[in-house]
Amino acid sequence: MPSAAESHPPLRVALLGCGVVGTQVARLLTEQADDLASRVGAPLELVGIAVRDASAPRDAAVDRSLLTEDAAGLVERADIVVEVMGGTEPARSLLLRAIEAGAAVVTANKALLAEDGPTLYKAADAAGVDIYFEAAVAGAIPIVRPVRESLAGDRVRRVLGIVNGTTNYVLDQMATTGRGLDEAVREAQDLGYAEADPTADVEGYDAAAKAAILASLAFHTRVSLDDVAREGILAVTADDVAWAAQTGHVIKLLAIAERRDGGATGEAGVSVRVHPALVPTSHPLANVRGSFNAVFVEAESAGELMFYGRGAGGAPTASAVLGDVVSAARHRVLGGKGPQESTYAELPILPPSAAVTRYQVRLDVEDRPGVLAQVAHALAEHGVSIEAVRQPTARGAADVAEPGVAELLITTHAAPESALSATVAAVAELEPVRTITSVLRVEGA
Ligand code: NDP
Ligand code: HSE
Repeated sequence: MPSAAESHPPLRVALLGCGVVGTQVARLLTEQADDLASRVGAPLELVGIAVRDASAPRDAAVDRSLLTEDAAGLVERADIVVEVMGGTEPARSLLLRAIEAGAAVVTANKALLAEDGPTLYKAADAAGVDIYFEAAVAGAIPIVRPVRESLAGDRVRRVLGIVNGTTNYVLDQMATTGRGLDEAVREAQDLGYAEADPTADVEGYDAAAKAAILASLAFHTRVSLDDVAREGILAVTADDVAWAAQTGHVIKLLAIAERRDGGATGEAGVSVRVHPALVPTSHPLANVRGSFNAVFVEAESAGELMFYGRGAGGAPTASAVLGDVVSAARHRVLGGKGPQESTYAELPILPPSAAVTRYQVRLDVEDRPGVLAQVAHALAEHGVSIEAVRQPTARGAADVAEPGVAELLITTHAAPESALSATVAAVAELEPVRTITSVLRVEGA
């Protein structure tokens, strides 16, 4: 008797994009064809690869006869369309066209999903086809499926993670080798971690898109890129990195999504933010090095879960893409459909000022009696409690701009972002305060 893989006609797979990720998807589809056919129950036939320039040099693993510049024509003749071209257009139109033609779609395009995912989810739902996007968040790490499916019976409270490999690589290089930001970004590009435009990484857009996707899935509500308070790493200096080390921290670009129930503690809703933060070296996130990513999920019944792995790069991302292809292909063979978007909760998005965090503020002040008391008074007036004040000696007076000027390092207890930022503004206005050198949030303590 023929096996299911032998009896079912091949499933036609169209690949949109043959760059860092697409090349590896094409390679794995070819190299693992037999295993994939057995897992799916039908052969997967790569029927075409859409690119901008079909004459450009390609990796030897790519069958050049499959290359086409007619992406729109390609999606019409596929059962499964894999989009790894990036950008909003023409990716969105091509995926919509594929869905309308009855194809299942797999995408790694977080920018598109965070901007206009609901249009795609609605179209897929109407057409009764699958849409999968595991690779869109944290590369190889299975995080979309666990949040969307495994935790569907729980109540997620918080998601905290390092979800951008490029910035983690850059901050790690700055901390361990003293390299500058630009040099480290170039290395991340060479290694295939960075987006086509690396400002999406360093300015936090990529992490914000992933945070929006994760928050939507975790809290069953719609969160888009515009709902995410975003700061990138461009303002992080070598001095900040050195100071972080001296105070037992590392600087990480964190994505944080929280659900608040309101009551006495404030408004109910969802708060989503991306920003650099000081993380204590004892915290597991501090040990996430290089381009690796890690995501903590805190759920009411499951407790704390941590997901860790390669967050960027061709082969790791292709692994996640292929997993989605197998899921979609199995549904074609056996029937059924993957989960659809769940937004029943319709939670309000809380303003960035409502986030609760801690600050570490570095400032230069006149070195004379009563100055510390003035600064402490300004914090107290805004209801911000001081956890620690240091007048560091490690750098020595030579590092301070003028004689008679001292550097203070103030760490606060947790307080609403609105109170913390108002406090910093008030401190900056104090007569003996020369400069606020740096303000960083502290998380994970
Ligand atoms: P690349 O820039 O390396 O590759 C993009 C590919 O898409 C190229 O082959 C390009 O063609 C093709 N392409 C772009 N625009 C068009 C168009 N208008 N028509 C036809 N083809 C087009 O991107 P990556 O592989 O790095 O990323 C792809 C997607 O995967 C993005 O959404 C990215 O965010 C996501 N992703 C990337 C990760 C990574 O580590 N790189 C990790 C996780 C997700 P040509 O080769 O001719 O220029
Ligand atoms: N540019 C992204 C990163 C790729 O650095 O994490 C993975 O999404």
